[in-house]
Amino acid sequence: MFPSLLLSLLVATAATAAVVDLESRQSASQITTVDLSVNWGTPIRRASGVLYGVPSTANQIPSSFYTGMGFNYLSAGGAQFVNATGWIYGGYTSRFQDVLSNFNTARQFGAQFVLKMSDLWGTDGTQVAATAVYPGVGSDASFTEFNAYLTQLVSDLKAHGMTSNIKSMAQYLAMWSHAVNFLRTNLPGVPIMGPAFAGAPSTSNTWWTSFLAHVKADGTAPDVYSWHHEGSSTDPTNDLQSSQPTMVSMLNSAGLAIGEFIIDEYANANEQNPGSTAWWIARFERFNMSGLRGNWLNGANLQDFLAGILWKSGNTYFANGIWQVYDYYANSMTGFRVATTGSTDRLMDNFAVVGTNIVRILVGGRLVTGTYSLQIKNLSALGLPTSGTIQVQTRQFSFAGTTGQEGAPTALGLVSHTYSGNVLSFPIFQTDTVTTWAFEFNF
Ligand SMILES: *[C@@H]1O[C@H](CO)[C@@H](O)[C@H](O)[C@H]1NC(C)=O
Ligand SMILES: *[C@@H]1O[C@H](CO)[C@@H](O)[C@H](O)[C@H]1NC(C)=O
Ligand SMILES: *[C@@H]1O[C@H](CO)[C@@H](O)[C@H](O)[C@H]1NC(C)=O
Repeated sequence: MFPSLLLSLLVATAATAAVVDLESRQSASQITTVDLSVNWGTPIRRASGVLYGVPSTANQIPSSFYTGMGFNYLSAGGAQFVNATGWIYGGYTSRFQDVLSNFNTARQFGAQFVLKMSDLWGTDGTQVAATAVYPGVGSDASFTEFNAYLTQLVSDLKAHGMTSNIKSMAQYLAMWSHAVNFLRTNLPGVPIMGPAFAGAPSTSNTWWTSFLAHVKADGTAPDVYSWHHEGSSTDPTNDLQSSQPTMVSMLNSAGLAIGEFIIDEYANANEQNPGSTAWWIARFERFNMSGLRGNWLNGANLQDFLAGILWKSGNTYFANGIWQVYDYYANSMTGFRVATTGSTDRLMDNFAVVGTNIVRILVGGRLVTGTYSLQIKNLSALGLPTSGTIQVQTRQFSFAGTTGQEGAPTALGLVSHTYSGNVLSFPIFQTDTVTTWAFEFNF
């Protein structure tokens, strides 16, 4: 398992669910499946991470919002604060206090903390490109300033007991090697995470190919590989179904070990809704990858609202429809995971668990409308007959925007389905791009 602190070295309309049998209407590309006979192990809330979103003031967001969403990863370093500062602007000390506060919040809830070293340095999107100092270039060509920064940071991490586990990432290859060697010497045994490129791994991306060749050659490969998924919702490479096998293949070609993969920014701005969130969860679970939710808020709001799944009225926080999906995922979807497949058009998917006498299936579409089908195979694996009738409950997750309060999903009632051939199928009528559904049945 990973340690509690990860160190990242960076540069830079209501729908209704009518449920009837009409499997014959579905084409192959519209089916998302569950195979109850294949156990994928215990769910560990892999997708319940957030990028920023935690205030510097401890306990400002009530704890129930953290436990409810299954909070298990936080990545932060103090980006885009009002009067943005950092090491290169003489503002390191106060920014480190913000980091320490965020680290303590992560520890309070048993979440792992990824420290964004670039934020602390000061390259957090607010730096003035022409005058900002970058490690190992220009006025810092000999790494004097960067070494002073790393020395201070290592000292502070040790002083505050933040060294139990660390991972990291970088953009410039020379800086990468310099930092990895420095950290491995001064924080031995601490895992390193990187490179956190904004683009998914690809054999035609020279950042990736150069990075892998470089770290292989000088022995500075990270322990954990990370990258972002923030591109277009219709780009097939902006999908774990492409990036995970590509990364495995590229590591094999480079002669590097296959470590853990963590996406430190997932779901772009228009995917911030219940349906797309469930779609991403299904994929993280299938590929056994962990994910930190992208944060599309700005300025002070960036360090609040758990990356856009909460909002507040005065000082009182409330959940929006996305938080309700994470709550169901973290707290209702217990038991063991079973094998699933997404639709071949890549736009509908599901995550399924078998609990105590109950199956729970969370479906999610990636900004699609239309009729899809959910096909649940091998019911006999649960001791059910291979044909018969099953009562299925549908729960609806609605969405009224980031600032719209939503309660627990609405139970739409039980619908009886007959099945045969050990397979139960029923349609998912997706009439808008944001609402999503969970289906449940007892056995
Ligand atoms: C994910 O983990 C489960 C349980 O260990 C395993 O059966 C499955 O093959 C893994 N999936 C991938 C894509 O590695
Ligand atoms: C930002 O800097 C200005 C000018 O120094 C100061 O008046 C203001 O209080 C600062 N804001 C914060 C949030 O620190
Ligand atoms: C599960 O279902 C599939 C398709 O219906 C079938 O081919 C397979 O043999 C089943 N597996 C088990 C273990 O029954």
